[in-house]
Amino acid sequence: GLSVMEIAHRFDVDIEGACEGSLACATCHVIVDEGWYAKLGEPSEDEEDMLDLAFGLKPTSRLGCQIV
Ligand code: FES
Repeated sequence: GLSVMEIAHRFDVDIEGACEGSLACATCHVIVDEGWYAKLGEPSEDEEDMLDLAFGLKPTSRLGCQIV
């Protein structure tokens, strides 16, 4: 399936994604609505590490390229 990042790009939503989903940037950072966050499952450890570098981190932050 497509990731949230890829879907956003298709609809011209302004999230970046500099590394094209290879978990090497944090520019695809999104803050997920609380009601949805729990449904997404746990982020991987690699995602967590990259999220730590994201600007304006929130408890429901995820990387858009990792939400599939
Ligand atoms: Fe780089 Fe998501 S696009 S980590």
